[in-house]
Amino acid sequence: MQLVKMKLLKNNLLRILPVLLILIFTVAFSGTPGINERIKQAQAPYDKRIEPPIPLPVNTVKVLVPDQGGTFYTQTRKDQIKRFQCSACHNNKEVMIKNAARISHADKRIVHGSTSGPLDCNTCHSKENRDFLTTSKNRKIDMDHAYALCGECHFRQKKDWIGGAHGKPVSHWAGERVVKNCTSCHDPHSPRFKKRWPATYSPPFK
Ligand code: HEC
Ligand code: HEC
Ligand code: HEC
Ligand code: HEC
Repeated sequence: MQLVKMKLLKNNLLRILPVLLILIFTVAFSGTPGINERIKQAQAPYDKRIEPPIPLPVNTVKVLVPDQGGTFYTQTRKDQIKRFQCSACHNNKEVMIKNAARISHADKRIVHGSTSGPLDCNTCHSKENRDFLTTSKNRKIDMDHAYALCGECHFRQKKDWIGGAHGKPVSHWAGERVVKNCTSCHDPHSPRFKKRWPATYSPPFK
C-alpha cells in the first residue's frame, strides 16, 4: 500500500515538473528584453530611440531644420518674455486710448534695418495674432523658433548657426546638441552689440 502511494506521488511530480520549470523561467526573465530586442533598439533611427542617454536640459525645443548629424535643440523664448501672452491685450477688443502703441511699448526703439529706415514692427510680428512672428510670405512662426525669422534675412548666419560656427552650445559633448537661440544673444529690436573696452588691461611690464 505504502509503495503504491510513493509511486503515484513520484509519477505526478514528474508530470508537473516541466510546467513548474516553465513557470520559474517566465517569472525570472520577464521584464528584461531579449538580445534581439536590444539590438533592434540600438539600431533604431536616432529619432525613434526610446530615450536619450543623457536627458535634455529643461526649456529646450527641437529645431525645425536638421544639422549634419540629425536633429538638434535650442533654448525656448516664450518663457523668457515677460509680456507673453501678447493676446492677453491683443484681442479683438477695440483700443480707445490715443497713442496707445507708443504708451504700451515705449521701451521699443528699433535700431535694426537698412540705413534708409528701421524695420517695421509688422515685418516681424503677425498683425492677426501678436503671439506669433511672421515672414514676408505671411507664414506664422512660434516665438520659440525665432531663429526661423532671423534666417529669412540673415540666411548666412543661420547656416553658420546650424553648423555650429555662429552662436554657442549650452550642452556638453555627450548627449543631444543644444544651442542658444538667436534672441538668447541678440535683442531683435537692436541686435548690434555695443562696443566696449576690454574687461581687463595688460599687466605692467617689468
Ligand atoms: C498690457 C497690454 C499689452 C501687452 C501684454 C502687449 N501689448 Fe502690444 N500693444 C498694446 C496696445 C494697447 C497697443 C496699441 C494698440 C494696438 O495696436 O493694438 C499695442 C501695440 C503693439 C504693436 C504695434 C505697435 C505700433 O507701433 O504700431 C505691436 C507690434 C505689439 N503691440 C506687439 C506686442 C507683442 C509681440 C506682445 C507680446 C510679447 C505685446 N504686444 C503685448 C498693449 C499690449
Ligand atoms: C526684426 C524683427 C522684429 C521687429 C522689427 C520688431 N520685433 Fe518685437 N520681437 C521680435 C522677436 C523675435 C521677439 C521675441 C524676443 C525673444 O525671443 O526674446 C520680439 C519680442 C517683442 C516683445 C516682447 C518682448 C519684450 O522685449 O518686451 C514686444 C513687446 C515686442 N517685440 C514689440 C515690438 C514692437 C512694438 C515693435 C515695433 C516698434 C517690434 N517689436 C519690432 C522681433 C521683432
Ligand atoms: C526683414 C529682414 C530682417 C529680419 C527678419 C531680421 N533682420 Fe537683422 N538686419 C536686417 C537688415 C536690413 C540689417 C542691416 C544690415 C546692415 O546694416 O548691413 C540687419 C542688421 C542686423 C544685425 C547687425 C549687423 C551688423 O553688420 O552689425 C544683426 C546682429 C541682426 N540684424 C540680427 C538679427 C536677428 C537676431 C534677427 C532675428 C530676431 C534679425 N536680425 C531679423 C534685416 C533683417
Ligand atoms: C552666443 C550668442 C549668439 C547667438 C546665439 C547668435 N549670435 Fe549673431 N552674433 C553674436 C556675436 C558675438 C556677433 C559679433 C558682433 C560684433 O562683431 O560686434 C554676432 C554677429 C551677428 C551678425 C552681424 C554679422 C556678422 O556675421 O558678424 C548677424 C547678422 C547675426 N549675428 C545674426 C544672428 C542670427 C540670425 C542668429 C541665429 C541664427 C545669431 N546671430 C545667433 C552672437 C550670437
